[in-house]
Amino acid sequence: MVTLVGNGWHPWLFREEAKSLMGEIETIHSRIVSIQLSENTLSRLSRAALIDDVLENSETHVIGEGTTSADIAEAISAWAENFLEPGTFAVRSRSIGIGIEGISTKEIEMDVGNRISSEINKVDLADPKVEISVVIAGQTEGEAHPDPLGDSPSVVVWGVRNSDWEREKYSGRSPTERPFFKPVSLEPRQARLLISIGHRPDCEVKHVVDPFCGTGGIVIEAALQGMGVLASDLDSRMVEGTRENLDWVNGGYRAEICNASEIDTLWGPTDGCLFAFDPPYGRSSWKSEDGLNLFLSAISSARRVDPSGAISTMLPTGPEVLSQGLGEDFTVMGVKWSQLEELIAQRGWKVVLKSPIKVHRSLARMVIVCHPAD
Ligand SMILES: C[S@@+](CC[C@H](N)C(=O)[O-])C[C@H]1O[C@@H](n2cnc3c(N)ncnc32)[C@H](O)[C@@H]1O
Repeated sequence: MVTLVGNGWHPWLFREEAKSLMGEIETIHSRIVSIQLSENTLSRLSRAALIDDVLENSETHVIGEGTTSADIAEAISAWAENFLEPGTFAVRSRSIGIGIEGISTKEIEMDVGNRISSEINKVDLADPKVEISVVIAGQTEGEAHPDPLGDSPSVVVWGVRNSDWEREKYSGRSPTERPFFKPVSLEPRQARLLISIGHRPDCEVKHVVDPFCGTGGIVIEAALQGMGVLASDLDSRMVEGTRENLDWVNGGYRAEICNASEIDTLWGPTDGCLFAFDPPYGRSSWKSEDGLNLFLSAISSARRVDPSGAISTMLPTGPEVLSQGLGEDFTVMGVKWSQLEELIAQRGWKVVLKSPIKVHRSLARMVIVCHPAD
């Protein structure tokens, strides 16, 4: 088993991402899941946007009333007898969620270090051979995003940090640093997330298809991960800009001017497609019939390109989706969700995930993933 520690930005989507990439997950806490280790686990996980850490040989204890730092340190040192290989080590402990009275990450680090250091296992904080990662996960509260899981019990999880795992760094990749920038550009982390949650455990994504590519925010992330890129936009300046941006990351691609409702004519039947996009929106346009009809005709055309493909998108909605119950019939893309879901179904797609994300005070977006209905 491998334990994944998720980013706090959106715990629900962290878990969904892990499921999309890896299949079955066991939820330990809203931000901690475990998965089966297989041959390609790390290469699949390298596509994630919301995983902070990957721990191996991990162990979990529920933190009850009266649990102290010393209790935790004792349990970790008992575990180390079985799992700590000879060589230098460092203990790094951190808290997520609400802090827990009586538990101190510093005390745990010191105490475990003292208990397990020996002639064959010396502490080396600068360049350890093994990093023991300890995560104190308290309850969550006042999160920006709703979570159907509700409260998780407080737990402590520890394990050997996988040294091949590197959390994606976006430095030098922000939209404003690219040769071609427009305010519509999607942030790299959200673009990466749209790609990762569009994965299915038993399908290989060969091409990321963005029929509304704009400045190329989504396809840049696809190209960086070695996936094929089929990008198009109705605006020729956007297509030119996407090409410039993809050349800048040395990505392979095809990018053409095309109405999103006609991508089937442009690309022809193509298998292994993930259609990942954020359709046009704006103060007025997304409320109009046009934005909705364009989205619907794009997903019809997508179905003709690859009837076995998947769709991952984010649609404009109001900020009330963040505070009200998840079962509410919200307005998404200017229509009631129940109606939109039906319209999507009529075009051959089944919605498998809908989860809101906050954009700013007056705008949220609904992340939606669809698989073929049949
Ligand atoms: C929200 S932006 C996409 C931004 C993009 N994800 C990025 O990172 O830059 C929507 C894009 O849809 C394009 N668009 C509008 N109507 C279109 C249509 N009928 N067919 C194809 N593209 C269209 C616009 O030119 C715009 O670039």
